[in-house]
Amino acid sequence: MPVQLSSHAQVLVAERLRAAGCVFAEDEAQLLVAAALTPAALEDMLGRRVAGLPLEQILGWAEFCGLRIAVEPGVFVPRRRTEFLASKAIDLARLVDGSPVAVDLCCGSGAVAAALADAVSGLELYAADIDPAAVRCARRNLGTAGQVHEGDLYAALPIDLRGRVDVLVANAPYVPTGAIGMMPPEARLHEPRAALDGGTDGLDIQRRVVDAAHEWLAPGGYLLVETGPSQLNETARIFEGNSFAAQAAYSAELDAAVVVGTILRK
Ligand SMILES: C[S@@+](CC[C@H](N)C(=O)[O-])C[C@H]1O[C@@H](n2cnc3c(N)ncnc32)[C@H](O)[C@@H]1O
Repeated sequence: MPVQLSSHAQVLVAERLRAAGCVFAEDEAQLLVAAALTPAALEDMLGRRVAGLPLEQILGWAEFCGLRIAVEPGVFVPRRRTEFLASKAIDLARLVDGSPVAVDLCCGSGAVAAALADAVSGLELYAADIDPAAVRCARRNLGTAGQVHEGDLYAALPIDLRGRVDVLVANAPYVPTGAIGMMPPEARLHEPRAALDGGTDGLDIQRRVVDAAHEWLAPGGYLLVETGPSQLNETARIFEGNSFAAQAAYSAELDAAVVVGTILRK
């Protein structure tokens, strides 16, 4: 049973959140009050939020594609913009005959993989991340819907997946190193650096993902990579430089950018 607060007390909670810089203070107040079982728990949650922890890490979940995704402290919080990547992956997986094989590389909490599992029936699903905390979290979120592996990009995957992947999705880190300092403190201070930092131009890990994707994709398979809107053309060029036909897509609603590639026939 959540803690019961008078409407005046709830307004005071929202005011504390607003004073700490929370833009959606009323919504956050409602979520925190609904999650707290005692006044002391509410005070503890409020204190952590006011100190700058991401709301989702305090609640223990984030909403993604209509699902509640468990998010542990120290794990990247899935962003709404990544629903664009997930929806494109879902559409493409549905086009595959039989039982599609899908991989979520750099899976973090496993949000994209979980959305795929929820929307596509008969999926053979794998996810992988280098961070043990993310892997633990993704295992919670996927349960029996897919396997989660720990390791550096493709090195984490079972070897017999080579040449079998119909839909390969990656939301790898893509923030340029020099821009990390300009990110909101929530991300900069409470999400792992390895989840954000994509190297000098932000595209180092994407290059590695695209470069080795040929070995893993099935004939006619798709590679989908989220990128920053300002990096869209450069990410598409990385695809083209690796013999992919690339389609760059942008969602103004979510301010989200994705490149979808298929291997060019020789
Ligand atoms: C931007 S987060 C995205 C997480 C998740 N895909 C999402 O959309 O919520 C990037 C993730 O890539 C992982 N990562 C970074 N470098 C990696 C590598 N070399 N191999 C595997 N995972 C990596 C990080 O641990 C982090 O979880």
